[in-house]
Amino acid sequence: MSVPFNFATSIESALQSAATSLELDLSLFAPEVRTADPRHGDFQANGVLPYAKRTQQNPRALGEKMLAALPAELLAEFDVAIAGPGFLNFTLKPATLDRWLTTYATEDSLREGARASQAEAGQTFIVDYSSPNTAKQMHVGHLRSIVIGEAICRLLDFAGAKVIRDNHIGDWGTGFGKLIWAYKRHLDAAALEADPLEEFERLYKVGNKAADEDESVLEAARQELVKLQGGDEENLAIWKRINEVSLEAFQKIYDQFGVKFDYTLGESFYNDKVGQVYQELSDLGLAEESEGALVVFHPEHPRFHKQPFLVRKSDGAANYASTDLATLLYRTEHFGADASIYVIDSRQSDHCEQLFLTAKKWFEKTNRKLPRLEHTSFGTVLGENNKPLKTRSGENIKLRDLIDEATERAAQLVATKSGELPADEQAKIAEIVGVGSVQYADLSQNRSSDYVFSWDKMISLEGNTAAYLLYAVARIHSIFRKLAIDPSDAAALAAADTLETPTELALARKLAKFPDALRAAVTPLRPHMLCLFLFELAGEFSAFYSADKVAVDEPNVRARRLRLCARTLLLLETGLHLLGLRTLKRM
Ligand code: ARG
Repeated sequence: MSVPFNFATSIESALQSAATSLELDLSLFAPEVRTADPRHGDFQANGVLPYAKRTQQNPRALGEKMLAALPAELLAEFDVAIAGPGFLNFTLKPATLDRWLTTYATEDSLREGARASQAEAGQTFIVDYSSPNTAKQMHVGHLRSIVIGEAICRLLDFAGAKVIRDNHIGDWGTGFGKLIWAYKRHLDAAALEADPLEEFERLYKVGNKAADEDESVLEAARQELVKLQGGDEENLAIWKRINEVSLEAFQKIYDQFGVKFDYTLGESFYNDKVGQVYQELSDLGLAEESEGALVVFHPEHPRFHKQPFLVRKSDGAANYASTDLATLLYRTEHFGADASIYVIDSRQSDHCEQLFLTAKKWFEKTNRKLPRLEHTSFGTVLGENNKPLKTRSGENIKLRDLIDEATERAAQLVATKSGELPADEQAKIAEIVGVGSVQYADLSQNRSSDYVFSWDKMISLEGNTAAYLLYAVARIHSIFRKLAIDPSDAAALAAADTLETPTELALARKLAKFPDALRAAVTPLRPHMLCLFLFELAGEFSAFYSADKVAVDEPNVRARRLRLCARTLLLLETGLHLLGLRTLKRM
């Protein structure tokens, strides 16, 4: 008999069919299956109680009826009990756990399971993340979009979605006038070679200052911008160079986080596509002229009835809103997007809300199918003083410096923990632990909240940290190394007996909840749900490993314990890779 990948979803569909056979009003019934407090079993269904209340029945009696109507296949897998006022508690039978462990023994089989059970499978998701403005360095404020965005892409991909990674860079700002003015007069070629973004930032400051002090410079800079927008060859070439060099510098950071974009379609790409937006929105009566600008009011909205969405500036130029509207149309028509996901700071929530509201009306009136639109927002990285994280002197922390410091600090940890390893191996471990710690500290937080950045908490072997999990992975590798067995060698583990001890069973129960943790991370795009699972899994593993000796003489006992080690390793590695981390065999 085949075993379900996700037990929670299989219970949900069994409850749905029980509800159908009992002729319940399905519009009022939601099975609501959740991972349970381990004292009450593995999964709990909470949907009976609210249904009984709404239909004025005795919840317990309804629970009994549901139980009796459950399909036999489900009852073969679980022990089911009614608790309290009609909760149904499901406990996996040891034999079911065995079969789950045997079936989902490789990353491929897990992926297949995920694809068969997740609704995202087969859907095209455009994930818009990182998306910095060019000609500037990325600083700590750019961290979260990169790290969260990449994890979301990997999670969606694992669930079978077609993922398109799009870096929607800001490459068409009005700042280019001043920058080009300064570039033509004050460029320091050696500085450009050494650190291009530093040089562009310096040039921009030079241009800005000169324009502030001298009207004629301001006018000259304006002319440079007009020339650029008019397609002047020299200015276009400078602008192109600035963007290319910026992207090259960004890519160095992306490489450290394992990020590779499919497309980098920045604001400039939509230059020739905003005209259609103005035209359609005006023709449909959604946009109107106001003081020379083109704006969209949302009369039904408490704020946006007064505070419109500005889609074309009064000087006729496109802006952030017009390019975003054109972008959405392009994603829908060119890529056939089913979903467009915006991994942007929560401070842009008004922009996103206005964008989505406008798009909804626009697409409705033009009979276009609106993709799922999601502002996957995140809070701010704070310093110990609870204010946005800055250097001591009050400047933004460059992302590059942050990664370097993480690696240095991780090197100290590695030196104390694994000082016997060769220096080059220590350096490699430090890089993986350092970068992974920065990623994991960010991902393990609920993305909606701000969080306080703390090196000590982040690069620690204790707590819900990257180092703790990477160490758990390395430790399991060392168990296999000592026994000279390859963890992926299923044949060596085939003779495994049925699970027996409480710690074996507790670990197996945790392993079998991976699909539910994956679902909790993928569906609402919340990677911290997977972090929490991995942390708890590592804890269960430790408890098992200190209670049950693995290298025992009885071959079957040894095989079943080794199998638990192998599956824990598989899920920890798969999970960490889904979050964007690299793992180590030795640490
Ligand atoms: N470049 C923008 C910024 O730095 C973020 C762009 C996000 N993506 C988008 N489609 N609006 O704030």
